[in-house]
Formats: sequence, structure tokens, C-alpha cells
Amino acid sequence: MVQSYSKNANHNMRRPVVSENIVHFMRTRQKQNEAHLAKLEAFAHQENIPIIPHETVAYFRFLMQTIQPKNILEIGTAIGFSALLMAENAPQAKITTIDRNEEMIGFAKENFEKYDTRNQIQLLEGDAVDLLGGLKETYDFVFMDSAKSKYIVFLPEILNHLTVGGVIIMDDIFQGGDVARPILEVRRGQRTIYKGLQRLFDATLTHPDLTTGLVPLGDGLLMIRKNTENIVL
Ligand SMILES: C[S@@+](CC[C@H](N)C(=O)[O-])C[C@H]1O[C@@H](n2cnc3c(N)ncnc32)[C@H](O)[C@@H]1O
Repeated sequence: MVQSYSKNANHNMRRPVVSENIVHFMRTRQKQNEAHLAKLEAFAHQENIPIIPHETVAYFRFLMQTIQPKNILEIGTAIGFSALLMAENAPQAKITTIDRNEEMIGFAKENFEKYDTRNQIQLLEGDAVDLLGGLKETYDFVFMDSAKSKYIVFLPEILNHLTVGGVIIMDDIFQGGDVARPILEVRRGQRTIYKGLQRLFDATLTHPDLTTGLVPLGDGLLMIRKNTENIVL
């Protein structure tokens, strides 16, 4: 039994932001995972470890095959499922992925050893707060799938490491629909995340030098394209 995640870990995934029958349709009618990705998906579901849901998997396959990024940064590795998905669908890409949870790092290492057959993935162990400033490279695709209240904190450093034309995707930004409600209707324990996400939306959605898109897949994706070199948030 995996220690890291409680039964509430997927709270918002049980509050879909589009109707249940559409979620079911997207999860069952789109091509299923195969081989190691199917195994890892089943393991994550069995152990209640949050990984991207199937509708996001299908979207990532499409995006990776279309954009073919060369240098990807991911914050939030967990067991390595999304990193291996990106590696499979962008075979030329180098992927740097960050996680701070020892138990997840253990699983991810094991999975990369077995399934990262092209040696595309490098795992950085530690808190993104400490590691982001030390990154030396630039990236053309960044996937942020970690603590949501921190997205706004990480964003300036991420933008510094993003090429012009590069894309950031942030996962789980709708809080099961809470972001569209007044704060007093949001559970007290969720309000720090709510405030962090509102700051993120304020800073990005109408920014003149960013192109953004909100996509209602899973608990929502915020997509950001960097349009000029120096972005002041
Ligand atoms: C939702 S899971 C990632 C799932 C993975 N992207 C997938 O779809 O297969 C979130 C992960 O982010 C990690 N995390 C959260 N905040 C972090 C931080 N500040 N620095 C590094 N890792 C972090 C957690 O330890 C957890 O393993």
C-alpha cells in the first residue's frame, strides 16, 4: 500500500467540470493505453496515486506528436507515468522531471529504469522551489502538475527558462469548479489554493505577451504560450 496519498487525494477528480457522461465517453472511446503505460495507469488507480486522467492522456499524445518538443520540463513526476507518456510520443525529446516525494521517486526510478528505453528522462530529486533557480537550460514545453497554490510562485522562473513560442501546461486548475465561485462558497481548507489560482489567472489570462487557453479536460488545464522574450507579470 502506497503511503503518500490519502483517499481524498483525488477529491476534485470526483467532481468533474464537464458532465459525467462526456467524461465517460472521453475515457472509453479514445485509444486506451498499452504495454507499460497501461500497467502504470492500473497501478496508479489501484494505489490512489493521482496521474493525468485518460482524456488528458489522449490530448497529450496529440500535442506531443504534433508539437514534437525538443526539451521538456515537468514538475510533479509521481510514478513517472506522464513523463513516460511524453517520452513515447515525442521520441526526440529530452525530459527533465522533478519530484520531492521519496516514495514517488522510488517508483519513478524503477519505472524509468525499465521503460525509458531511449534514455530520454532525467529525474531531479527535491523541491521545485529549490531546484528551478539552478536549471541551466531552456525548455520548449513545460508541464506543471504539482501543488496548485505554487503555480503562480513558480511561473516567473519557468518563464525565464521557456523559449519564445514555448508552451506551459498547468494541470488541475479548476478545483472541481470552485474557481468560478465566490471564495465564501469554497471550503476553508481549499482557500489557499483558490487564492493562488486566482492570482495565476489574474497574472496570465489577459497578459499582452502571453496567449492562453483554458481547456476543460480532467480538472482543467491552463495552457500558456510565451510570445516575447522578457515577460513582466
Ligand atoms: C499529481 S502528481 C504528478 C502526476 C504525474 N504528472 C502523472 O500524471 O503521471 C503530483 C506530484 O507532484 C509532486 N510535487 C508537488 N509539489 C512539488 C514541489 N514543490 N516540488 C517537487 N515535487 C512536487 C508530488 O510529490 C507528486 O508526486
